[in-house]
Amino acid sequence: GDDVVLTTRPPVVTVMGHVDHGKTKLLDAIRSTDVVGGEAGGITQHIGAYQVRAVVDGDERPITFIDTPGHETFTAMRARGAQVTDIVVLVVAADDGVKPQTIEALNHAQAAGVPIVVAVNKIDKEGADPAKVRGQLTEYGLVAEEYGGDTMFVDVSARNRTNIEGVLEAIVLTADASLDLQAAFGVEAQGVAIEGRLDRGRGPVATVLVQRGTLKIGDSIVAGEAFGRVRAMLDENGANVTEAGPARPVQVLGFTSVPDAGDNFLVVPEDRVARQIAERRQARERNAELAMSRG
Ligand code: GTP
Ligand code: NA
Ligand code: MG
Repeated sequence: GDDVVLTTRPPVVTVMGHVDHGKTKLLDAIRSTDVVGGEAGGITQHIGAYQVRAVVDGDERPITFIDTPGHETFTAMRARGAQVTDIVVLVVAADDGVKPQTIEALNHAQAAGVPIVVAVNKIDKEGADPAKVRGQLTEYGLVAEEYGGDTMFVDVSARNRTNIEGVLEAIVLTADASLDLQAAFGVEAQGVAIEGRLDRGRGPVATVLVQRGTLKIGDSIVAGEAFGRVRAMLDENGANVTEAGPARPVQVLGFTSVPDAGDNFLVVPEDRVARQIAERRQARERNAELAMSRG
């Protein structure tokens, strides 16, 4: 319609880093700071993305986090041309230092042109050496502000919840300094599927990140080769929602098959159109497979 309104949306942040360096623990600690979510208590269910209302310098700021099982998801999304993240938080354990997956993660972020905030984690541990981590990352172009560079390093203990506000503050500073976070609300939604699975009772369930517009119950939707009509939407606390605007991750029920991580989705005017687009893509995929098998 004519009612396109550009409004500031929350930043979308992906947490990456070497195995066991504390990505999930850090996300847990961040989540516990949520001024609203903290009250929901106990009923949270895991989805691949969630929004936190953080208080930074007295202001309540929503931040969307994507909790990927590893950088395969990130790679898969990039391969499909999906650019979902505005900021990467690179987690490096201070007792272990820079490792192969640390470097892979920062290569991905740098290739995508995404600003990086470094969370130097596990500073509570014996042998933790945050200065060494800074020195190591200098070789990869991540020079700490205190060493004359422009990368924010934040020393944290996810376990003890030390300096979690420092991470949130660095994210907000990065967003305010270098990102254009305007997005259209109210128009037909577009975005990316973060993950999909087949639920025994509920059928195909897709976690999607809305990037533009507002997703509503009853919308006809197509994601990659999957299509359907939005029957219900759930937030990160499992609560039903009727609308999801830009940077809002939601679980969507109503697809007739499971979308893949990294599939772009869009809302179309009618079910028939969604079906046609999906079927055309399915046919194209079948033809490509046939051509491959013919060699
Ligand atoms: P993967 O998802 O398997 O790559 O691991 P991860 O990076 O998500 O690490 P995870 O959060 O699972 O933490 C790995 C281990 O480190 C767990 O045993 C955590 O309890 C521990 N850990 C995480 N953060 C800290 C910390 O700040 N201090 C200490 N001492 N241990 C921590
Ligand atoms: Na782990
Ligand atoms: Mg993890």
